[in-house]
Amino acid sequence: MAYTVPKLKSFSAATLDKAAEKLQAALKQESAAVKTEADWKSFRDRWIGRKNGVLTEINELWLKAAPKDAKREVGQRVNELKTSVTATVEKSRTGVTIVPAPAVAKVGVTMSTPVEPAALDITLPGIRRPLGSEHPVIRTMHEIVSVFRNLGYSVEEGPVIETDYYNFEALNFPPNHPARDTQDTLFIARQESKPQRERLLLRTHTSPVQIRTMEKMKPPVRIVIPGKVHRNDPPDASHSPMFHQVEGLAVDANITFCDLKGTLDHAMKALFGSSVKTSFRPSFFPFTEPSAEMMVSCFICGGSGKRGSEPCRPCKQTGWIEILGCGMVDPNVYGFVDYDPKKVSGFAFGMGADRIAILKYGVDDIQLFFNGDVRFLEQFG
Ligand code: PHE
Repeated sequence: MAYTVPKLKSFSAATLDKAAEKLQAALKQESAAVKTEADWKSFRDRWIGRKNGVLTEINELWLKAAPKDAKREVGQRVNELKTSVTATVEKSRTGVTIVPAPAVAKVGVTMSTPVEPAALDITLPGIRRPLGSEHPVIRTMHEIVSVFRNLGYSVEEGPVIETDYYNFEALNFPPNHPARDTQDTLFIARQESKPQRERLLLRTHTSPVQIRTMEKMKPPVRIVIPGKVHRNDPPDASHSPMFHQVEGLAVDANITFCDLKGTLDHAMKALFGSSVKTSFRPSFFPFTEPSAEMMVSCFICGGSGKRGSEPCRPCKQTGWIEILGCGMVDPNVYGFVDYDPKKVSGFAFGMGADRIAILKYGVDDIQLFFNGDVRFLEQFG
């Protein structure tokens, strides 16, 4: 029969001695039966467990129940028993057989020293590795890229640290074009001794990859270029010195502005829904002629400029959202890559992926994408 703490009929020294003796005998017997880690745990809980452990019980049933004049005597015994019980519980742990968890060797780490059994508590919760998910900007880039892959485009990438030649010169930027100015471009320091075209900078757009690709590939060319770009813009809700673009380039015989419009109109419907409309208005880029800015009808207010009785903020109540720059590749550009402008023509476009992600997900501050706050990023998981 398992030992239970009895209520004491009297608190005389003799009764106390007897009760203590019985308790000690039970302790000894039970500790001898401890064989495994699990045995030991239930043994420990039974004797020193805070809720219903034997020690708690003797405190309640013996010490607290004792009349005033017996408290001293009872208190002393109870203390002795506490010391003895905790010591026995401690002691009975050594000798317990622990089934060690299989040691998992890490890559590149040799486990020369075996794991100390006593140091290994297999009941501890494991280390949870939270599952990551795609960053909303990267996800948006993948979506844009896949729309074009479905049209037969392939993916090209290029360096973020570029030369002046690829970022500007070969893209037909005249020598004093304001985009070359330190106002916009982040230059790598100490490049002054090099000729201008070799000086390094952080690319301000993904367009240099147009040149790099045409240098190594003969027409027909159909590529999309996702990537990081930098501009010297102070960070605020809609600007970041680092952001992302997806560029496109198609060069072949007889490519016309109609192809550009049809391709981009299809892409926008694939991205934002089949009911969006596109609209083009004249613009300027040194490497396209003619150049255009493309707008899509606001997919948030459906082009009305209003959300209920409220003005629609994303489109500034105009019903249109400016989404990308585009145009027909300027014949001067072909001169830099050894294409014959009499034989080929093509179009190019470039869009800001962060801005599209902002619109798609209704985010009101671009900085949220780059602060690395998991509470924000988790929402896209
Ligand atoms: N590179 C331009 C920009 O960053 C966008 C663009 C790309 C325009 C291709 C026309 C053609 O603003």
